[in-house]
Amino acid sequence: MDLVLVGAGNRGHLAYGAYAERHPDKARFVAVVEPDDGRRARFGEAHGIPADRRFSSWEELGARPQLAPALVNATMDRTHRPSTLALLAAGYDILLEKPIATTPEECVEIVEAAESRGGLLQIAHVLRYAPFFVKIRDAVTSGRLGEIVSVDWRENLVYWHFAHSYVRGNWANSQRAGPMILTKCCHDLDLLVWLFGACDRLSSFGSLTHFTRDRVGPEIPDRCTDGCPIADACLYFAPRVYLDRLRENPRSFAVAAVSLDRAPEGVMRALETGPYGRCVYRCDNDVVDHQVVLMRFGQGLSVSLTMQGTSHVEGRTVRIDDPHPGFRQASHGRFHVRRRPRAVEVPLAIRRDRGSDRGADRPDHGRYPRGRVHRDRGGHPSGTHDLAGGRPRDHPDHPAAQPARLLRAQHLCES
Ligand SMILES: NC(=O)c1ccc[n+]([C@@H]2O[C@H](COP(=O)([O-])OP(=O)(O)OC[C@H]3O[C@@H](n4cnc5c(N)ncnc54)[C@H](O)[C@@H]3O)[C@@H](O)[C@H]2O)c1
Repeated sequence: MDLVLVGAGNRGHLAYGAYAERHPDKARFVAVVEPDDGRRARFGEAHGIPADRRFSSWEELGARPQLAPALVNATMDRTHRPSTLALLAAGYDILLEKPIATTPEECVEIVEAAESRGGLLQIAHVLRYAPFFVKIRDAVTSGRLGEIVSVDWRENLVYWHFAHSYVRGNWANSQRAGPMILTKCCHDLDLLVWLFGACDRLSSFGSLTHFTRDRVGPEIPDRCTDGCPIADACLYFAPRVYLDRLRENPRSFAVAAVSLDRAPEGVMRALETGPYGRCVYRCDNDVVDHQVVLMRFGQGLSVSLTMQGTSHVEGRTVRIDDPHPGFRQASHGRFHVRRRPRAVEVPLAIRRDRGSDRGADRPDHGRYPRGRVHRDRGGHPSGTHDLAGGRPRDHPDHPAAQPARLLRAQHLCES
């Protein structure tokens, strides 16, 4: 399928661009819109896009006869509304990055514009396709988990990722992006509604407690690279954070945001002048660094969602309880089931997935190593998916087909 990419930043280049490079039979980018010269050239060259199809604004693209049936809108959150409305009007079907927009009114406006035109608008809530969550949904909707009374859902963000995105980076300031519960947890709220139907009540608390100016003394410079006296002890010392990421993974999304030049010297130069070299206690961040949401779903189901941004390890964890002793818990690629008198651990198929955003963009995920067979307390091998017990909960109709539910999830984030 021919596509246009609007916004050739991290998501556009590393997720969609990389997908098209791996699967030229499925997706081919024939034009790109990106105001940053370096990013536009990088994407244009990687996809063989001729110079007259490389644009620096969506207005330029909209003024041209349609170049493809559909486009991917991977611009930042606050430009989703104007760009999507303009490009729907220009005739494109659109895959729009999450969140749809930053207010409920804008979400409704975008969906209504797509509906009135009869065009296709899809939102990249990609975790609905991640094997980890597909497995959980299979277990919930099949009734194998029995009657569910409570769910503890955690989004654990590894400390450097939180600092990268929500202290130094794109989503640090609610005026430039939106509240953290929307920009990060719209995935989780979408998944919860997808799994359990409509939420009828909620309350929420969160605050910014760690990444504040008063955490360090006046001797700490604004930039890590300006001779910080606590560089060795500080977990967030930027040169170490980004050079470690570069060593771990030359295609690291974090390093890609810092600099187009991935040589260590290029990364260091960018840290000396750019936003990612700033001291985490000296930024203009105002979004919370932890938040909890308590929700009531149908039939008395109680759900808690916790996001915390100082985790030692990245990944979501889910614990699901029924009225009987024992619980089911999913994390790190495994679905643990504890039921008296027996205990089993049920391996999920994909260990790489780990309840993170990874895996969802990879239709070729089947090549990853499959989960190990775990053993119960008696040492017997167990790979069973028979989580029998209890009564299947009536599941609401398929929310994936209902934009209103998506909107409701985003509305909840806003509230
Ligand atoms: N689905 C997911 O799991 C997921 C993961 C990460 C990010 N996202 C979403 O993807 C979007 C992009 O995030 P990102 O990390 O790639 O940010 P980014 O800053 O790396 O990329 C955004 C790009 O848009 C470009 N841009 C700015 N104005 C533009 C314009 N007028 N026309 C075209 N392009 C323009 C910027 O120059 C930049 O290159 C965000 O909405 C984010 O929430 C989704």
